[in-house]
Amino acid sequence: MKIQAVKGTVDILPEDVGLWQFIETKTRELFHCYGFGEIRTPIFEKTQLFVRGVGEGTDIVSKEMYSFEDKGDKSLTLRPELTASVVRAYLQNGFSVNDPFQKFYYIGPMFRRERPQAGRQRQFHQIGVEVLGTKESGSDVEVIALAFRFFESIGLGDVKLVINSVGDPKSRENYIALLKEALEKDKGKLCKDCHVRLEKNVLRVLDCKVAECQPVIEKAPQILDHIDSESVKHFEQVQAGLDQLKVPYTVNPRLVRGLDYYTRTVFELSHPALGAQDAIGAGGRYDNLIGNMGGPKELGATGFALGIERILLALKAKKCGDVKPVLPFVYFVSLGEEAWKQNFDWLFQLRDHGVPVEMEMGNKSLKSQMRSADKSGAQFAVILGSEDLEKEEIPVKELKTGEETKVAMYKIKETLLAKFEDNK
Ligand code: HAM
Repeated sequence: MKIQAVKGTVDILPEDVGLWQFIETKTRELFHCYGFGEIRTPIFEKTQLFVRGVGEGTDIVSKEMYSFEDKGDKSLTLRPELTASVVRAYLQNGFSVNDPFQKFYYIGPMFRRERPQAGRQRQFHQIGVEVLGTKESGSDVEVIALAFRFFESIGLGDVKLVINSVGDPKSRENYIALLKEALEKDKGKLCKDCHVRLEKNVLRVLDCKVAECQPVIEKAPQILDHIDSESVKHFEQVQAGLDQLKVPYTVNPRLVRGLDYYTRTVFELSHPALGAQDAIGAGGRYDNLIGNMGGPKELGATGFALGIERILLALKAKKCGDVKPVLPFVYFVSLGEEAWKQNFDWLFQLRDHGVPVEMEMGNKSLKSQMRSADKSGAQFAVILGSEDLEKEEIPVKELKTGEETKVAMYKIKETLLAKFEDNK
């Protein structure tokens, strides 16, 4: 029996890679322009990092992590997200002491054991940024605007942005107690999953999509009415900044996000072309994480992560971001060993000049070589036989029109190079 890929993982094939590279190139161009430097952290970390960083009660940590015992009895985990890893790297590499203000970005795979469906995989990819060492609302505006501009730059300017503030940790804690008290009163009207959420992570009740829970959720206290005055001011500044930059958004007082580290600003971006999994990106401020991971308490941070698979789905649904594959410019066809050797020389000489060219790597019939030449999408074929070599006149055929010209052998390389340049 053939071995299949693990459920929830997919192969990214050459025909799709063009779109991935398009997204990655756009990311690098824009993020460098916004002053972000790339960071690459390990694919696996100590399990404790995510337990402490993301939070024990979160779905990610309690249900979705790929954790395994290493030989030394240490529990390791494939990274389910990168914020905790980036904070670890920031502390470990001395940034918090030597140069606390840092702007990092990353592109890479993450792992969560969720139920696979369209737009949800067990190995998926994120593009993300983290701004560390600041509590300024300007940085929240900067990252939100960057996410929005990024979507605009790839043709997804129709993303919907919702924002909210979850206040400082104290007001968040008070709100959680208040929410729990209110929901406990109506516990009988909530679904079974919400009963569990009530015990484990009461904020998640607000995300429940089950119809019977909605009246209870609508009536529940809203976090925006219970946040501290400093956070209110901070949130007003964030909104003013987004208004100034003309980034369209709506405030959703029920948006609380599923990870424990958030404080103050939280946001989510969704796209109408996606189905049930319509969150194409999300993020927020996490002023306590650096302190909780053993770093200085006063250093705030903010960031986001965008799901690349969901970006691809949205691009495909909108039929934009079509990327043309690189086709060979010339296909070399050889009749006999001498011709093959000569073509093999030209093949590598032209490749050394950056011209995409192809030929068979072994002895094939003329018919089969011509079929490959046509299939390759090449514009020209050099069809070389021993007579041509003797006469030192090389036939160059334009495959679309069938038109054939003879080129003096000593001029063949420069002629093909010139044709390639003209064609650019
Ligand atoms: P998150 O909301 O867990 O946040 O994930 C961000 C994005 O990753 C989602 O909006 C979605 O597009 C994508 N995503 C998540 N899970 C999957 C999956 N199973 N399959 C496909 N795509 C998925 C974070 O990860 C935070 N670290 C974001 C952040 C950075 N906050 C501050 N800094």
